[in-house]
Formats: sequence, C-alpha cells, structure tokens
Amino acid sequence: MRSRSPWFSAPTFWAPTRTDARDCRRLRAGVIAGVLSCAAAMIMAGCATSHTGPIEVSRKPFGQTADGKQVYEFTLRNTKGSEARILNYGGIVRSLRVPDAKGNLGDVVLGYDTLADYLKETPYFGALIGRYGNRIARGKFTLDGQEYTLATNNYPNALHGGVKGFDKVVWEPAILTGPDGPSLKLTYLSKDGEEGYPGNLSVTVIYTLTEDNGLKIEYTATTDKDTVINLTQHSYFNLAGKGTILDHIVMIPADKFTPVDSTLIPTGELKPVDGTPFDFRTPTAIGARINQDDEQLKFGKGYDHNWVINKPMGEFGLMARVTEPTTGRVLEVLSAEPGLQFYTGNFLDGTLKGKGGQVYQFRSGFCMESQHFPDSPNKPQFPSVVLKPGQTYHSTIVFKFSTRS
Ligand code: GLA
Repeated sequence: MRSRSPWFSAPTFWAPTRTDARDCRRLRAGVIAGVLSCAAAMIMAGCATSHTGPIEVSRKPFGQTADGKQVYEFTLRNTKGSEARILNYGGIVRSLRVPDAKGNLGDVVLGYDTLADYLKETPYFGALIGRYGNRIARGKFTLDGQEYTLATNNYPNALHGGVKGFDKVVWEPAILTGPDGPSLKLTYLSKDGEEGYPGNLSVTVIYTLTEDNGLKIEYTATTDKDTVINLTQHSYFNLAGKGTILDHIVMIPADKFTPVDSTLIPTGELKPVDGTPFDFRTPTAIGARINQDDEQLKFGKGYDHNWVINKPMGEFGLMARVTEPTTGRVLEVLSAEPGLQFYTGNFLDGTLKGKGGQVYQFRSGFCMESQHFPDSPNKPQFPSVVLKPGQTYHSTIVFKFSTRS
C-alpha cells in the first residue's frame, strides 16, 4: 500500500476528458503542499538551490500514433528542480534532468525529440518492457503442457515482448501526487493471445519522481490464465549527457552471471565472475576490460549479460551503482529482482540521431534492466516467471540519483 502524508490533500487526478486548451496548464499538487515541502526540503538540506520550487505535474500533446491514438508527454518535477518527461506511448522516459555535483541540471537519458522518431525506429530508448523482458529461445516455451509460439523478432529468438511489446502500445494515463512526489500512473490490458502470450494481463505502472531524486517505477499485474511475465525498464543512461559511457565507473554486487550462447540465450550455467571481465564487485570503468579477448564479450559485442545479484530472493536492495567522474553524478539501481541485464549500447552505431541532433554513437548509453533471468520459461532451474490467476505480480525499480565531488 502506498501511504499518503496527512499534509498532502487528496491525490490530484488528471481526468482524460479535459480539453486540450487546459493540457499545458500546470497541475499543482496544492499550494500548501508545495510551500510545506519546499520548507521541509530547505530545512532538511540546510540550503536551497535556485532550482527549488513546488512539486508540479503537467502534460502536453505529443502527437498521434498511426491508428490515431493521442500521445501525451507528462512532466514530473520535484522541489529540487529535477524533472522527468514521460510519454504514455511505451511509458517512455524521454528526458530525465538531475543535478551534477555543482548543482547544474542535465539530461541523463537517450531519446528523441518527436513521436515520429520513436515510431520510426528505436532500440527501446527509455521504454517499458513487457510482457517478457529479454530473450526467449527460438520464441517457444511450454506452460501447463501447452506449447506457445512467439514472434522471433530478434532472430532466432523472441526479444522484449515481441513485435509490438509494451514499449509500443499507448497506455491509459492518470496523474497522482503523494508523499513521495508527483506520479504518473499508466495502465494497459494485454489481451489473451497478444504477441502469443496466454491470459488477459492487466498491468499498472506508476512512475514517481521522488523528493530525493529517485525515479521510482512500480509494476503490478494480474492475469486470468497462467502466463509468464518479466517486466523491466529500458532507459539508456549517460550520466555525462554526452560522449561514450566507457569512463563511467560501475559496481555490481554479483558473484555470478549467466553466460550466453552466440544468440545471447543463457546456457543455464551460473558462472562465477571471479577472474573474468564480468567482475564488477569492486568499482571498475566500463571501458577497462570491455574489449578483452573474451568469448562472452564477443557474443555480446561488449556487456549484454545478466548478473545474478547477491541478495536473498525477493529482497529489495542495491543492484548496481554507477559513477561518472567528470560530473560527479551517481546512479544507484535498486529492485527486488534476482537479475540485472547490464547492456552497454553495443548495437548503437551512429545511425540514430537523437535529442537536439545528438548522434548516438557506439556505446554512448548503458541500460541497467532489473529482471528475472532471460529465457526463464525454458530454464526450470532459474527462478520462476509464471503468474497464475489470483496472484499479483509486483516489481519495483528505483533509479536513484545523487552526486559526489
Ligand atoms: C537488451 C538486450 C540487447 C539489445 C537491447 C536493445 O538489453 O539484451 O541485446 O537487444 O536490449 O537493443
């Protein structure tokens, strides 16, 4: 249950029936709440930067899909001035502005300026991933004795939910504000048989920009038939806002990872990272070993693997910490998932032109996708990804930003 602080009035809901004339109007979470939270922030921080202000949520039209569905961009802003811009198309985090060590806000995610760009071609920039994050071998799995066939959209395997996964659908949006900060709630009903998966799956995702500069993503889902589910988030981060990510320093608390075959399907083994370029237990630059003569790195064209995080199953905690030396920005990834897909943008090749005309070069963004392990439906030895009627799927990711000098 999400608790609500008594000094926040009832959540401000955005009603989809409001006219576009009001779309750009800022929906304030209440003057009293804003003033109080500003004051609280100032007292707690002991200082105020020029970025402080009331918690805000606004929306503006962002174009239409080919089948005429209206897409909006929602802007969530906390009292520190940090800002997340999120689309109800694919739940895409289009922009995420957080402070560096000097207090300067900068955008730390890759993405595009227009919906047309997202509709044309995207390597899942900033998107919600479902129904099944990462690969399922040969697009086939068996559940309750029945074989299911999926599109092999990453031949010869199924990837990230199929041809039209959760990253490419229009979600039903609603704004709410609570004690943690402004939130965008997205809901979607994935019909029985959609992209080959069984069961009507009802999914809710709540994005919250927290007062301590975290982007919290909370997933819940229910089904009316046994199915498989593995939801994640595919933001590409670059904490410097430009250049490659090779100088970012990464720490992943994992003694083991899941090695893959040449098509990036786990072999089923949990391999110790000891003595390999996959050992990030002590903070190491991404670029330090990425080009080593290592079969696993060759298969992934760099890092594109699942780490088995050292913590008890289901315990919420740290999955990775990334530090960018020039800006002092630090990203911590937290979740209760057993695995983390660390992907270093190895399929970026300088052909995609993103926000502000920036060309996205090889390894100019990295993803930290908390998840169950790839191909779990075909690997009985991996933690189960089966969801049954009467159960509720829960998964929470926090991308928490801070700085160090
Ligand atoms: C995931 C996969 C990668 C790649 C990217 C999207 O991280 O593991 O292999 O498909 O998504 O380009």
